[in-house]
Amino acid sequence: MANSADLTVDGKTYSFPTLEGTENEKAFDISNLRDQTGYVTLDRGYKNTGATKSAITFLDGEKGILQYRGYSIEDLAAKASFLGVAYLLIYGELPTQTQYDKFESDIRHHTMVNEDMRKIFDGFPVDAHPMGVLSSLVSAMSAFYPDVNDEDNTDLHIIRLLAKLPTIATWSYKRSKGHPMNYPQNKLDYIQNFLNMMFALPVEDYTVDPVVVEALNVLLILHADHEQNCSTSTVRLVGSSQANIYSSISAGVSALWGPLHGGANQEVIEMLENIKADGGDVSKYVEMAKNAKSTGFRLYGFGHRVYKNFDPRAKIIKKAADDVLSKLGVNDPILDIAKGLEEAALNDDYFVSRKLYPNVDFYSGIIYRALGIPTNMFTVMFAIGRLPGWIAQWKEMRENKEPIGRPRQIYTGPTHREFVPVEKR
Ligand code: CMC
Repeated sequence: MANSADLTVDGKTYSFPTLEGTENEKAFDISNLRDQTGYVTLDRGYKNTGATKSAITFLDGEKGILQYRGYSIEDLAAKASFLGVAYLLIYGELPTQTQYDKFESDIRHHTMVNEDMRKIFDGFPVDAHPMGVLSSLVSAMSAFYPDVNDEDNTDLHIIRLLAKLPTIATWSYKRSKGHPMNYPQNKLDYIQNFLNMMFALPVEDYTVDPVVVEALNVLLILHADHEQNCSTSTVRLVGSSQANIYSSISAGVSALWGPLHGGANQEVIEMLENIKADGGDVSKYVEMAKNAKSTGFRLYGFGHRVYKNFDPRAKIIKKAADDVLSKLGVNDPILDIAKGLEEAALNDDYFVSRKLYPNVDFYSGIIYRALGIPTNMFTVMFAIGRLPGWIAQWKEMRENKEPIGRPRQIYTGPTHREFVPVEKR
């Protein structure tokens, strides 16, 4: 491959270096474009813009490949534990047994949340959306750790975030139910602890079901990173100003909440419920989605900026949904509606020609429902899964000493005009 590319503009030719990643993706390095030519690029939605070099996650949208640090998502989902994957993403290698034991034990022993933070929950309305509570509480963590800007303590902040996010998440749910909040228990592992804090009640015994643990392990792994998506780019952008890790991750939680991103999993179930309540005619909704410009209706859980053949996570999740529901003996009519909708869409030229396939959010909600997780907690589950990815990307960005992120624009407002005093307006 040529290692430079020429650009001719206003009669002059400029040369820019090209570069190639380890999986052969090719890029023009235009870092000096404006200095040399006076031009900037315009790329709304960053459809073509590489914001950084990263060694964490690779995905190939045409071939449907997703790899964390070189390991395929199919292998990791089948063979790894969520905390092992978290370690891999954050530190670059699968942990040895000794490394894993220390990492897991450190997380296990940092799950408690400061009692003053607990009081903050009382200030939220009981019907507050748990994503709003989560982003606020993660941001509040920065106020509880005065050493937040001490880079020598980054590993400790990482442990605190991983350990406390499930505690905060389940407390927001407990408060919305009007139930007492459960404290974490050190005898339980990461996923068992989450489930116990989420579902145990003081009035009866709660036993963690291994089928549920296994299903959550897979779901969390599938969500753990996805290179420079909207929330991860947000984390990196906020962190590039040297904002602390809690503030940066809190911004990521907020970005994830949007219905075009992680919030889609809640939208999918609400959409499937509506279709069911409307008689279950999936073709009607396919037609509405095809006329999105007049109806304003999108098929949530369909389409992806990068995947154009299939989303490998959706393939795994679809199979897991069948397995989990049958193992738990749950018969959810929503699953049949989802399958019918998928089939109708995949046989429709509108979806085929635009390469719109089910994404990770299409079937995940059906599993969460079967596990007893309420709809407004679905995006919180995504956030717990995505946390290691956000942390890994934040850490890489800081270690690589990336410059502050600061895009340009094409100004389209009024040109200079004289100030008009109020009485003359
Ligand atoms: N239903 C109907 N039409 C769609 C859909 C959909 N879900 N998604 C895209 N299209 C159409 C869109 O109208 C456009 O058509 P046209 O060329 O006629 O204008 C074409 O497909 C390209 O769409 P786009 O909006 O330009 O594509 P994008 O890459 O900017 O957006 C997306 C990607 C994921 C935001 C979009 O597909 C979408 O809104 N999907 C529904 C929300 C969703 O499921 N989000 C979760 C994404 S995966 C997990 C995550 O990232 O968190």
